[in-house]
Amino acid sequence: MATEKIKAFAPATLSNICVGFDVMGLAIEEPGDEVLASRHASPGAHILSTNHEKIPFDPKLNTASVAVQAMLEKYGDPALGIGLDIIKKMPVGTGMGSSAASAAAALVAANALLGDPFRKIELLEFAVIGEKAADGATHADNVAPSLLGGLMIIRSLSPVDVVQLPIPGELYIGLLFPHITILTKEARGILRPEVPMKQFIQQTANMGAFVSALYREDWELMGRSLVDLVIEPQRAKLIPFLDEVKKAAYQAGALTCSISGAGPAIFSFAKGKSNITRVAQAVEEVMNGLNIPYDFHISRINQKGSVVMEGK
Ligand code: HSE
Repeated sequence: MATEKIKAFAPATLSNICVGFDVMGLAIEEPGDEVLASRHASPGAHILSTNHEKIPFDPKLNTASVAVQAMLEKYGDPALGIGLDIIKKMPVGTGMGSSAASAAAALVAANALLGDPFRKIELLEFAVIGEKAADGATHADNVAPSLLGGLMIIRSLSPVDVVQLPIPGELYIGLLFPHITILTKEARGILRPEVPMKQFIQQTANMGAFVSALYREDWELMGRSLVDLVIEPQRAKLIPFLDEVKKAAYQAGALTCSISGAGPAIFSFAKGKSNITRVAQAVEEVMNGLNIPYDFHISRINQKGSVVMEGK
């Protein structure tokens, strides 16, 4: 049996971006997850190891193995087995696309191990199946940017239709990760199934204007548009310090500040490194006062997405 192992990296992601619940996301430079793929004597996808106690070993429950299993089924060799070693380099239940990153890295590593039978975009349908194992819902706003990189709209999953948007060169992202856990499943469970017409109208206008702001590099329009009228007000109660963090970020010059994905991570956008550094300082001051442990990442947008790291 071959002992070759291929390692891939998949970046953390920030989804929703205020105006695109379940349909917009972007990849950041780091943190991210790493997955090693190797041939396995038994057919199917197997979890060989993880470095995180919350990651399920059961291959039917783990996003990485579920995604790779879906890929193997499409590949069509019933005897083929793949083992996965998952090296989590970011926490779970953060709103930074942790489960998505494991699925994306596993797919890129396993695909490379098989000689790249699938194009990256073709891996997306398997990644979405993997992500569903984590929260029971079908959305690609974390897996698509983690896999493909960039800032994108997922217009449709069936058929797959993702639209990469332009990235202004001076766009910086600040990502606060408070060390508390919110499970996406719960954060989705509290959402009302209907959106009032007035909110729908304004959110649609904001999304169109945000996309336009990216094309025009119109920072003021970006700031005016990146307001979440629908989801954030419902989830705010899960993050008691959200208002305080937002206030500090806006005062320090953030263009926007809102929940990243299902939270508890909170992201800010700013124009230029000095502005995002000021935002970071202001947010860190709030967090230090609250006595809640946290990490803060400053990042540009990762345009590569998941990549093979070594072994090939
Ligand atoms: N769009 C999803 C949500 C992302 O907000 O529930 C989960 O990280």
